[in-house]
Amino acid sequence: MPDKDKMSVEEILAACRRMDGGGSAKSSGDQPTEGDASAQSQGASSAGATEAPATPPPAGPKKKPSEMSVEEILAAARAEKRGGAAAPQESAESSEAASESAQPAAPAAPAKKPSEMSVAEILAAARAEKAKSQASKPAAAAKPKVAPAAKPKPKPKPAAKPASTTSGPLDTASILAAARKPTKRGPVSKEEAARAGKETPAARTAPKVPPMPQKPEFLKPAAKKRESAETRRGFFASLTGIAFGSAMAVGFVSLAVTHLLWVLGFARYMFPNILIEPPSKFKVGFPDVIGPGQVVTKFKARFGVWIVRNEYEGVDQIYALRSVCTHLGCTPNWLEAEQKFKCPCHGSGFYKSGINFEGPAPRPLERYAIRIADDGQLEVDKSRKFQQELGQWSDPQSYVPV
Ligand code: FES
Repeated sequence: MPDKDKMSVEEILAACRRMDGGGSAKSSGDQPTEGDASAQSQGASSAGATEAPATPPPAGPKKKPSEMSVEEILAAARAEKRGGAAAPQESAESSEAASESAQPAAPAAPAKKPSEMSVAEILAAARAEKAKSQASKPAAAAKPKVAPAAKPKPKPKPAAKPASTTSGPLDTASILAAARKPTKRGPVSKEEAARAGKETPAARTAPKVPPMPQKPEFLKPAAKKRESAETRRGFFASLTGIAFGSAMAVGFVSLAVTHLLWVLGFARYMFPNILIEPPSKFKVGFPDVIGPGQVVTKFKARFGVWIVRNEYEGVDQIYALRSVCTHLGCTPNWLEAEQKFKCPCHGSGFYKSGINFEGPAPRPLERYAIRIADDGQLEVDKSRKFQQELGQWSDPQSYVPV
C-alpha cells in the first residue's frame, strides 16, 4: 500500500471503494456485522446527507485524509456526491450560493497542489468548476426548462404579430414564425393595385393606351342637342306608351268619353228649344226729337226697323218701316243722298214712304204698329204689321200724327 499522505483523491476513492467492496464481501458471511455496518453506513450516509449541505467545505480541512476513517471518507464522498447530484436541480440561488461558497476556494485551488488538497477541498473545487460551467451555459441549462413552455406556443402565433411591431425583444419561436410567414401576396385587383400605387401583372403586360383627346368645343352643343332630342323622344315615347300602349287603356278612355257625351246630350234634351228674340215692343224716343223728312236708322241693326217722319197723303206722320225687302227678304240700305231705300240683292228701290219704284220688289215695304206710350215716347209693336196694298196704312195704329 502506498503512503496515505501522498495519495491523490482518485487513489483514495479507489481505495475506499475497494475497502467498501471487500467489507461487503467480507460481511457477506457475517450477517449481524453487515447489518451493523450497513446501519452504520446508512447512519453515516444519512448523517452525511444531513451534514452535507450544512458543513461540507469547512469540515474537510479540519481533518487530514490520512487521519480520516474509511467511514468518514465515504460519508464525505457520498455527501459530496449528493450535493453534486442535487446541484443541477437546485435553483439559481443555490447554484449562486455554491459558486459563492466555491469562490473563496477557487483562488486557493491553484495555491495548493492536488496532492496536498483534502477531499473536501477537491470536491469544493470541483463543485465550483461545475457551477462555473453551468453559469457559463445559462441558455443550455434553461433550454430544457423553456422547451415545454415553448411547445404550446405555435398556437399563439398570431399574438407574435404585434410583438414584431413592438421594439421589445422577441423569443426564438416568434422570430421563427415571422421568418416562416409568407410575404408574397396573392393576385390583387386593379383597384387594389391602383390604391396601393402598384401595377398588377396584367396591367404591366397590357399595351399602353394613350389617353383619349379632349372633345372639341364645337361638338359639345351638338351632343347636348342630341341629348335633349333623345330626352324629348323618350318623353313622347312614354306619353304614347301611356296613352296608346295598352289596349285596355284605349278601351277605358273610349268608354269614358262615350258616357260623357251621353250625359251632356241628356242634359240638353231636358231644356226646351227656345229662340231668344228681342222683345216685340220697344221705345224709340220722343216724337218731337225727330225732324221733318228724317229717317232714323239706328234701330235697324237691333230691331230691323226704320223710324221715318214724312208726309203721306197730306198728313205729317211718324211711322215704322220694316227693313225687309219684299222681293226675297234682303235688307235694303237707306241712301240719304238719293233719298231712297236700295236693296243690295237685286236692286229694288223704295221711296221714303216705302213704296217700291224699281227693281224686282213686287210691293211696298211693310209698317209696324206704333203709338205714344204713357211716358210720351214712341213705342213700336212688331207683332202687328200693316201692308199698303191691303189699304192698312190708313189704320191710325200704323202711324202717329205729328
Ligand atoms: Fe231685294 Fe231682291 S231681295 S230686290
